[in-house]
Amino acid sequence: MTSSPNLPAPHPHSFLIEARDVRKSFGQTPALRGASVSVSDGEILAIMGPSGSGKTTLLNAMSQMIDNGERIVTIEGLSPDGSHPVQRAWVAHQVPQCGYCQSGQIMAAAALLAKNRNPDDAQIDSYMTGIFRCGPDQRMRAAIHAAAQALKG
Ligand code: FES
Repeated sequence: MTSSPNLPAPHPHSFLIEARDVRKSFGQTPALRGASVSVSDGEILAIMGPSGSGKTTLLNAMSQMIDNGERIVTIEGLSPDGSHPVQRAWVAHQVPQCGYCQSGQIMAAAALLAKNRNPDDAQIDSYMTGIFRCGPDQRMRAAIHAAAQALKG
């Protein structure tokens, strides 16, 4: 992911989310050619487009799930058979309720544990941000602690 050095000055309005001139290529194939997105408080953003138009790449870039600008890990890539310790802990602790947020939360938990193999509740709460509309927080915390133990071996 790169950014153009000749961008205009940032808009004086402060956004909750802002990405400017996001560019990403996979080898010689461009996936994003200067995408810009901003979301203000109270706004809802829908990113739509045909398959292959860069929607997932943009969201991954914004959520920093692109690793060193080269590799994207999605829920499908976490393990070939659902055997990643976070996935197993999610099932064991029956974390999902409605399922709305689960792919993102599992990926966030895996990213947290890749950085910190022994997070406390405060670190988990700080890292696991997002929209939980049905309140799976307690089970999610327990699952992350269980996955951390499993990753320690
Ligand atoms: S499982 Fe319902 S919002 Fe996450």
